[in-house]
Amino acid sequence: MKIFVDSANVEDIAEAVSLGVVDGVTTNPSLIAKEDVDIHTRIRQICEVVDGPVSAEVVTTEWEAMVEEGIELSAIHDNVVVKVPIGSAGLRAVVKLREKNINTNVTLIFNPSQALLAAKAGASYVSPFVGRLDDIAVNGMEMVADIVQIFENYDFTTQVLVASIRNPVHFLEAAKMGADVATIPPPLIHQLLKHPLTDIGLEKFLTDWHLSASSRSMGPWKPRKEIK
Ligand code: E4P
Repeated sequence: MKIFVDSANVEDIAEAVSLGVVDGVTTNPSLIAKEDVDIHTRIRQICEVVDGPVSAEVVTTEWEAMVEEGIELSAIHDNVVVKVPIGSAGLRAVVKLREKNINTNVTLIFNPSQALLAAKAGASYVSPFVGRLDDIAVNGMEMVADIVQIFENYDFTTQVLVASIRNPVHFLEAAKMGADVATIPPPLIHQLLKHPLTDIGLEKFLTDWHLSASSRSMGPWKPRKEIK
């Protein structure tokens, strides 16, 4: 499963990239708004730190304007994927952008039928929002399982990009279901790395080491040779 970072903050994205686990980035108008920066500038900056798809969302609502806006966004960098909301205007924009070989991510997917229609229109990715469904007491991951199944049934090449992931269970279930991508907020990467037994184990290893005769004879660790 590919991992995308769901953020418009360049420092957070760069830190996640340094861990070697990031395949791309998703942004949305709310995330860009938090940064208080021009969207073109910020998408360019993100493309400079990540070697992979970067979703940039349109903020227009008519299909013709979405296409124009999408063309402008895609001109920022080869890795830009134009994000459009599901709906008749969004699908018409996907068709036109696809004719121009521009990749699209159809967002705000809340049921499998929306995902199926976006795939038929030629979307490169669909983004089902699991956390926002859970918020209204509907199981978001069941929607993802249905989408993965439907795409397998009909050999769609559209990738399932699980979005609105809020916790480690969403992430793990997405991987077990065979979703193509999970996009996650930066703090969740650190949450995924943590386990109380890892912390306890490390503390014991270091305590045992520092109490040992070998540690006392060696003194504090220092490099044996200069690294070239
Ligand atoms: C990503 O593409 C979405 O915009 C994002 O995951 C939404 O997450 P939220 O529901 O936590 O805002």
